[in-house]
Amino acid sequence: MPHTERERIVMTRHPLSPSPSTRKNRPRRNLVEIATRLSGQRELWEPLVRYDPISRYYARLAKEPDFEAWLLTWVPGQGTEWHDHGGSAGAFVVVRGELTERSATVAQDGPPSVVDEPRVLSDGSLRAFGTKHIHRVTNNGLEPAVSVHVYAPALVEMTSYAEDGPRLWQTGSQLIGVNW
Ligand SMILES: [Fe+2]
Repeated sequence: MPHTERERIVMTRHPLSPSPSTRKNRPRRNLVEIATRLSGQRELWEPLVRYDPISRYYARLAKEPDFEAWLLTWVPGQGTEWHDHGGSAGAFVVVRGELTERSATVAQDGPPSVVDEPRVLSDGSLRAFGTKHIHRVTNNGLEPAVSVHVYAPALVEMTSYAEDGPRLWQTGSQLIGVNW
């Protein structure tokens, strides 16, 4: 899904950002650490919180050569479709409200299988995932939710899936957008 004019892009250099001279040869930074630190910096993301009942709202918190961070908001009922992350790993923290994640296991041969048990992520929950993770995230609660997401490398292209019983089938790929 393409970006919309609703997107508010705020690029900041946060305290974890290395200077350009130290970036070389640095191992991939710990996404859990980055997500935890950013989610704790309320002064960074709280002023950016907006709720959009028509389309999920999102704002970029950081853009670095090796990772990107986004703020996402979810009014009750809003959620993503099934999707992967195009080879990026990620981590996210629920900083307000509650989100529900459903995930799928990736098979060596054949389509991904839906995991039966949804994962409820309450305020303060952190979820980290690898490069092959497939999930869908929904606000099934009664209150708006806010989450802080980190991806490495930055999202570029991702595949969307449709649920058909216990299996997922690819429905297409899309360039970076809000369906995360
Ligand atoms: Fe996602």
